[in-house]
Amino acid sequence: MAMSMKSKKILIYNLIFLVFCGGVFYFLWSAPPETTAFLPHDENHERFFPMEKKEAEKFCESCHKPDGEAPLPADHPPKYRCLFCHKRTK
Ligand code: HEC
Ligand code: HEC
Repeated sequence: MAMSMKSKKILIYNLIFLVFCGGVFYFLWSAPPETTAFLPHDENHERFFPMEKKEAEKFCESCHKPDGEAPLPADHPPKYRCLFCHKRTK
């Protein structure tokens, strides 16, 4: 059973489309997991879990300011709302 030129072309375009979809799917599937550090569960941070976010964020700088006990790394991104990025897990 010979295939016409036209249906061969259609077949090829369909295959290209499938490979393309597979590539997109693979890319989305293998995207890295969220890596930003979570708010730690320890004596320094435990009290911030039940707190309202904005309320809690008023305290972060007291230790995480440049001359505090745990200064932020020099390459830290803009730090406007701490808990937006450093999420609290249950
Ligand atoms: C009483 C001091 C203190 C306060 C207040 C404080 N921290 Fe910390 N934080 C520390 C210290 C010390 C460390 C480093 C040791 C550790 O992981 O506990 C730290 C570490 C961290 C880390 C890194 C955790 C990791 O896995 O590497 C994050 C994120 C963080 N704090 C966010 C916050 C946020 C957000 C707030 C405000 C809601 C806050 N901290 C308030 C003392 C404090
Ligand atoms: C725009 C997102 C963002 C905001 C807002 C933000 N951070 Fe970060 N922070 C990061 C990223 C990204 C890193 C580096 C990767 C990591 O270790 O989490 C980091 C790192 C840190 C570390 C060091 C973690 C370690 O393991 O060494 C601390 C402590 C920290 N941030 C505290 C804070 C505090 C306190 C605030 C608010 C004043 C804040 N961050 C606001 C994104 C953010």
